[in-house]
Amino acid sequence: MAERIVAKKLPYRVEVEKGETYHWCACGLSKTQPFCDGSHGGTGNEPVAFVAEESEMVFFCGCKATKNEPLCDGSHGVVGDVGSVVEMD
Ligand code: FES
Repeated sequence: MAERIVAKKLPYRVEVEKGETYHWCACGLSKTQPFCDGSHGGTGNEPVAFVAEESEMVFFCGCKATKNEPLCDGSHGVVGDVGSVVEMD
């Protein structure tokens, strides 16, 4: 599967609005983290859509190693430094 880049070793805290759709950056290359800016072209990664069921605070994964895309699952505790590669299976 595709390689990803660690954008941040912690989650991004975002206030989402009920009914809105957000496109989480999976590749780690976006300049508008944690959201897609189209930089994934040619990486084999695609953004992951998230539809907010409530207006609330959510924590989008910044390390790109979560198993619960697009939200943080604590996997950032085992990834390398910012800019390192994450192998996804
Ligand atoms: S930032 Fe927490 S799992 Fe990626």
